[in-house]
Amino acid sequence: MKELEITTKVLVCSQGELSAELRDLVEMAKNKTQDAYCPYSHYHVGAAALLADGQIITGANQENAAYPSGLCAERTTLFSANANNPNVPVEALAVACYTNGHFTDDPASPCGACRQVMLETEHRFGVPMKIVLYGERECYVFEKAKDLLPMCFTNDNLS
Ligand code: THU
Repeated sequence: MKELEITTKVLVCSQGELSAELRDLVEMAKNKTQDAYCPYSHYHVGAAALLADGQIITGANQENAAYPSGLCAERTTLFSANANNPNVPVEALAVACYTNGHFTDDPASPCGACRQVMLETEHRFGVPMKIVLYGERECYVFEKAKDLLPMCFTNDNLS
């Protein structure tokens, strides 16, 4: 018997300490929270994806009276980016959450399904996708989507 230890490197910093490019991307994710359609949870999530050709695609969560039919901000954003730019890698994704009149103190924490979709995007292009999770107190920066989903399932498992 043996034990495996899984470690994840996360950079913890303020928005101001990010590179100008990532700082701006976070700002767009924060602004996009205001376009969330979230009449049920009142939890506004915004995301912004930086593409390799310099484009920025934004998205927000879209809820539905039939709850499971809604979609998180991260997936709304990545599906939009990938559907409209099928050959352009996504180099970074920023996420911010706003509720009860303010941005969350803790960094946004993408759900498992969104982590899986981030991983697929990263894997299909073979390019690391930086993930920046905004919080008022601090931000988390992951060098690649895979860091958010250890022991993950990808198409490597299918072959
Ligand atoms: N949500 C996101 O958009 N992204 C996350 O990372 C977490 C949750 C949305 C889904 C739902 O509209 C609301 O936040 C509450 O769960």
